[in-house]
Amino acid sequence: MASVVPCFIVFSLILSGVAAHIYGDPIAETMAAVSGYPSEPTSCSENHHQPLFVDRESLQRQIDELSQFSDAPSPAVTRVLYSENDISARRYIKDLMRHSGLSVREDAVGNIFGRWEGSEPELAGVATGSHIDAIPYSGKYDGVVGVLGALEAINMLRRWGFQPKRSLEVIMFTSEEPTRFGISCLGSRLMAGSEALAEALKVTFDSQNMSFFDAAKFAGYANDGQDISTVFLKKGSYFAFLELHIEQGPILEEEGVPIAIVTAIAAPASMKVEFKGNGGHAGAVLMPARNDAGLAAAELALAVEKHVLESGSLDTVGTVGIIELHPGAVNSIPSKSHVEIDARDIDEKRRNIVVNKIRQSAMDIATKRGVVLSEFNVVNQDPPAQSDESIIKAMANASEQLNLNYKRMISRAYHDSLFMARISPMGMIFIPCYKGYSHTPEEYAAIDDIANGVKVLALTLSKLSLS
Ligand code: GLV
Ligand code: MN
Ligand code: MN
Repeated sequence: MASVVPCFIVFSLILSGVAAHIYGDPIAETMAAVSGYPSEPTSCSENHHQPLFVDRESLQRQIDELSQFSDAPSPAVTRVLYSENDISARRYIKDLMRHSGLSVREDAVGNIFGRWEGSEPELAGVATGSHIDAIPYSGKYDGVVGVLGALEAINMLRRWGFQPKRSLEVIMFTSEEPTRFGISCLGSRLMAGSEALAEALKVTFDSQNMSFFDAAKFAGYANDGQDISTVFLKKGSYFAFLELHIEQGPILEEEGVPIAIVTAIAAPASMKVEFKGNGGHAGAVLMPARNDAGLAAAELALAVEKHVLESGSLDTVGTVGIIELHPGAVNSIPSKSHVEIDARDIDEKRRNIVVNKIRQSAMDIATKRGVVLSEFNVVNQDPPAQSDESIIKAMANASEQLNLNYKRMISRAYHDSLFMARISPMGMIFIPCYKGYSHTPEEYAAIDDIANGVKVLALTLSKLSLS
C-alpha cells in the first residue's frame, strides 16, 4: 500500500473539486463502493498515467483533432455521412479504439463497435456510445462527447486496473443526423431491426442523386449488396446501453447542476413534402393565372407554426428547416417546392395530432392554390422512449458517490438511445453546454463538465459490468 500513497497525493492535486483522503481519493473509494471492485489501484510504477484520472488534456485534444475533419471552416463543423471527412473521422475513431485495447468490428452500414471482452463473454455486454456526424455548420461536441468520452471512460477503467465481467463496448453510430438521406438515427434504427428502413434504403438517394448503397460502398461498407439485415441486433443483445451527451439546452448551466439523468426521450417525427405548379415568367404571368409552388411551401411553413402553437403546450415544437424552390431563379415562378418538417413532443398523441393537421393543411393549400401535392411522406413518426429505472438508479448512485449534484430531465432532442431502448435497457447522462447552444458553431462544453460526465459514465459502466 505504501507505494500507492504518493500516487494518491498526485491524484488529489490533479482532481479538481474533489477532496482527498489519506489512503485514497474519493473516486478510488467510490469506484470500489459503486462497482464492488476491490479498491486496490494499479500502482504508479506499473502505469505512467494516473489510474483514476480523467485525462482532460488528451480528451480535449481529441475533440479538437476530430473537429478538423470537417467540410466547414473552424469553429464550424460539417461532417456528412460517408463523405471523405466522415471516412477520415471514422479512421481516427477506430485508431483510438485500438489504442484503448478494444477489438474493432464494423457492420454493413458502418456502425463501429470497440469491444473489451469481459471475464464472462457469453453474458450480454454493457454498451455505450453516440455519433460523430455533424449537421452543416454545427459544433464539435454534439455526439462527439459520447464517443470520445466513452473511450476515455474505458481508458480510465483500464488505468484503474478494472476487469469487466460483462464485456464493455463503445459504439460509434452511423448517421444519427438526417443530413444526407433525410433519415435520422440511421445506424441505430437499423440495429434495432427496422426492416422498413432496410427496404426504404434500396430506393433512397441524396440531393445529388447518389443512392444510399453507392455512397455506403464509397465508404467501404455494404459489401453484401443491398442485404443489410446483418446490422439488425436481437432484443437482449446488450444488458444495458448508456449514452453521454451535451444537454443541448440551457437548464443545467442556468441552474449550476453538473449532471442530468435522462428519464425519457421525446417523440420525433419528420415529413417531406413536394408541391408542383406550372411555373412561368415572373413578369409575363399575371397574378390570377399563377399556381406558385413556392407560395404553397411558404403557406405550409406558417401552417406548421400555427398547428404547433394550437397544441397549447410548450413541449410541442415544429421546425421547417428546408425549403427548396425550383428552378431557383429570381425571375421565374417556382414550379416545384420541396419542404422538410420536423415536429416533436414528449406526448406522442399530441405530436400525432400536429402531424395530421400538417397533412390536412398541405392538401388544403394545394387545392386552394391549384398546385399538385406530389409528395407527403412521413419519413419517421417515432414513439418516445423511457429510460430504464435500474440504469437511472445506477447513474444516480454514481453521481451521488462522486459528490456530483444531478437532476432528472427529459431529452427534447433525439439520440441513438431512442432506438437502442428497443433492444436494451437504456439510460442517458447529460452535461451542461454553453447557453444551451447546439447545432451551431458556438456549441461548447467545458472540459471539466465533460470530465464529470466521463466519471459518472465510467462508474456506471463498471457497476453494470459486474452485475
Ligand atoms: C438530434 O440531432 C436532434 O435533432 O435531436
Ligand atoms: Mn445533433
Ligand atoms: Mn447528438
